[in-house]
Amino acid sequence: MLELKDVHKSFFPPQSLSNELAAFFLKKREPASRVQAVKGMSLSVRPGETLGLVGESGSGKSTLGRLMCGLHRPDRGQILFQGRDIAAFDKKRRKEFSLQVQFMFQDPASSLNPRMTAGAALAEGLTIHGLGGRSQRREAVFSLLEEVGLSPEMAERYPHQFSGGQRQRLCLARSLSLDPALLIADEPASALDVSIQAQIINLLLDLKDKRSLTLVLISHDLSLVCLMADRLAVMYGGILMELFPRSLLGEVNHHPYVKALWASADSAAEGGLILEGEPPDPHNPPPGCPFHPRCPEAGEICRLKAAPLLPVETDRFCACHWRKG
Ligand SMILES: Nc1ncnc2c1ncn2[C@@H]1O[C@H](COP(=O)(O)OP(=O)(O)OP(=O)(O)O)[C@@H](O)[C@H]1O
Ligand SMILES: [Mg+2]
Repeated sequence: MLELKDVHKSFFPPQSLSNELAAFFLKKREPASRVQAVKGMSLSVRPGETLGLVGESGSGKSTLGRLMCGLHRPDRGQILFQGRDIAAFDKKRRKEFSLQVQFMFQDPASSLNPRMTAGAALAEGLTIHGLGGRSQRREAVFSLLEEVGLSPEMAERYPHQFSGGQRQRLCLARSLSLDPALLIADEPASALDVSIQAQIINLLLDLKDKRSLTLVLISHDLSLVCLMADRLAVMYGGILMELFPRSLLGEVNHHPYVKALWASADSAAEGGLILEGEPPDPHNPPPGCPFHPRCPEAGEICRLKAAPLLPVETDRFCACHWRKG
């Protein structure tokens, strides 16, 4: 459904206004000052699957999600939707793409307009795309509310009148309002209490089945993602470290980072290590494999050269010098 080929994305770090002006007038900005958020990412999302995208904070998950739905343009590399490069879409195809691929933002509170009622927020996409008449949109709003377990009266409420869990349901309803084929949900449960997290995740699973959605589920929490995902993509420092079917989790000689994540996520996992130290500083990443400063298996080559992502066994890919097929 979606394929990324060697996609890179970097950002200028947020600057103060005076720095911005100095950079503009003195043209002193060096490309080296950019933060490399996503580096050479290649992976595909298969129709109907749930792909779990996991990694610590700052590993580039949200950036990758935004690239997938066209909210960011890659600096380099290609993103193909149903086999076609999204950068080359004409106006009509771009519109189709924006209907079919929806992104659910990480922070539900800030993604809702506080001055817009729930009903208006749910109808907004339909209005923008000129879909349906007034009464059809009203019907659509009620059925969306019902689908996510909210009552029709709530259409008149404003976002601050909802609880955290209800707001997340509202965001979910909004991202489904255009009936997408692919939903990219960025940390859909992480802002919520643990008890409510499970409800949202179950709702997401129900809706995925009912609507035959393809789902990219972004989360820092491996134990949560592994409950839902068909395949797992684990990122570290902007790089894809391992891509594998969930059935293999804990069953194979994983990338040392995945081992560490799994050991801290699952107390039953044996032989894992405890993840010590901090993720790499994005402004000053280490040379070689980004994980080498924390890796118990790191050797000379890891300090010098990042390992390419290579097939290790059927359907499993790993970027580690010590794990090759
Ligand atoms: N718009 C932006 N401008 C500047 N830097 C950015 C921007 N978006 C992301 N970054 C930087 O890119 C890196 C990756 O960020 P990203 O938000 O993709 O990580 P993440 O894995 O989603 O983290 P989290 O789990 O905290 O949400 C970080 O260093 C971040 O500061
Ligand atoms: Mg994020």
